Amino acid sequence: MIGITGYFAFAFVLASSILSYSISEANSYSSSNVHLNTIDSSSSSDNNIYSSSPSLSDEEEEVARRKTLAENILLLLGTEDQAARVNAATAEMIRSCFKYFVTPTSSNNVSGEFIWSAPPLIKDLAREAANYTGNPRNFIHSLVNPEKQNIPDANGTWADGRKIPHCTLTQLDYGYSFRREDYTSYFIRLFQFIAEQAPASVGSTVKLDRYDLFHGHMFLAPETRRIGIIFHAQEYPKLNRRSFNVELGVCQRDGNTMEYNQTNMNLRNILWLAPLFDDTGEVELAPGFLVALDARARGIIYEDLVINDTLQYQKKGMSITNADFGSDVGDLNYLNAKTNPNDVDDYKFYVCQRRPIRCSPSVTSE
Ligand SMILES: *[C@@H]1O[C@H](CO)[C@@H](O)[C@H](O)[C@H]1NC(C)=O
Ligand SMILES: *[C@@H]1O[C@H](CO)[C@@H](O)[C@H](O)[C@H]1NC(C)=O
Ligand SMILES: *[C@@H]1O[C@H](CO)[C@@H](O)[C@H](O)[C@H]1NC(C)=O
Ligand SMILES: *[C@@H]1O[C@H](CO)[C@@H](O)[C@H](O)[C@H]1NC(C)=O
Ligand SMILES: *[C@@H]1O[C@H](CO)[C@@H](O)[C@H](O)[C@H]1NC(C)=O
Repeated sequence: MIGITGYFAFAFVLASSILSYSISEANSYSSSNVHLNTIDSSSSSDNNIYSSSPSLSDEEEEVARRKTLAENILLLLGTEDQAARVNAATAEMIRSCFKYFVTPTSSNNVSGEFIWSAPPLIKDLAREAANYTGNPRNFIHSLVNPEKQNIPDANGTWADGRKIPHCTLTQLDYGYSFRREDYTSYFIRLFQFIAEQAPASVGSTVKLDRYDLFHGHMFLAPETRRIGIIFHAQEYPKLNRRSFNVELGVCQRDGNTMEYNQTNMNLRNILWLAPLFDDTGEVELAPGFLVALDARARGIIYEDLVINDTLQYQKKGMSITNADFGSDVGDLNYLNAKTNPNDVDDYKFYVCQRRPIRCSPSVTSE
């Protein structure tokens, strides 16, 4: 199916199925990971009858606004010269929405050093990105082994041991592994760091499970080729007729104990940015960052970066897409693959794309 995505689903012009939004192809309405393929589409079709599609110009305007804000965020987290390009008042509004996990200036906490300074492997990654000349969608091929890895169904994680039919947390039921082990361990560490540090650093609760944090969407920013990831925590809050009346399909249903929590939702979009390097790939011009983008009501993130879809599903879900920050590279998934609730946790790491990808690294553009 087309156009499924990393998060909230909304019935848009594309199809009668509920879509969640994340990445774009032709016009930025496109897909990410899947999730909602088993949802009963009748409710969304009904919704469609009452929804009107925005006119193209409104839509374009909204996309332009989002991209401008995303660009400004990257500038503010870049060099001093870059940051100075952002209008001061805007910069202040944006900065007020940054909730840092670690910063080089405010923290001497050595545990965050792997984020703000550049470990050699991240330097290598940035260099590979800078040197990559093909279609960004295929960049990931240069990093992964060609063999497909089956991704288990997320069945069997109900507290009472019953199985959930076909809860697919990724768009495809397979992923890839990084060729370099150190890339894998770095990103696993990043997932774990987010969960561990969120309460103290940004004031949210993040769990590494199939309802909360299990994926991030990687991007390459066009101008600087800066590499980043938008992590989505709070992926499947429990349906609540009063506080969260958004149907997200089978993965959201029974067994879900993650109650909707406004604070956690506001802080669900977490931006990781690799340090910025100069053209030689040697000199670090700006540090790396890990920052939650606070999407609280009436803040600039909520107003200008969270997607404003017709049904307001994305607004309810505070969804931000990596497509606004750059080209989509692929998803990083860190999934607990145990199939029985009584088993010990069995976390596995997968690199995924949202559409079938050609497995030969030599194939470049589409
Ligand atoms: C550094 O972070 C760790 C968690 O990773 C925390 O336990 C520790 O208290 C922090 N140290 C300082 C000095 O803030
Ligand atoms: C790109 O690759 C070439 C050849 O491997 C290398 O000499 C050059 O340093 C690389 N550029 C960067 C920015 O890493
Ligand atoms: C999950 O459920 C589906 C359908 O019931 C079944 O085909 C699949 O084998 C199950 N997977 C696991 C890992 O239990
Ligand atoms: C919501 O989340 C915040 C931050 O994680 C937590 O402090 C608060 O207790 C939660 N609220 C409820 C009602 O659980
Ligand atoms: C969303 O867009 C509509 C127009 O399509 C506009 O009236 C509304 O104010 C927007 N909402 C937000 C929160 O930006």
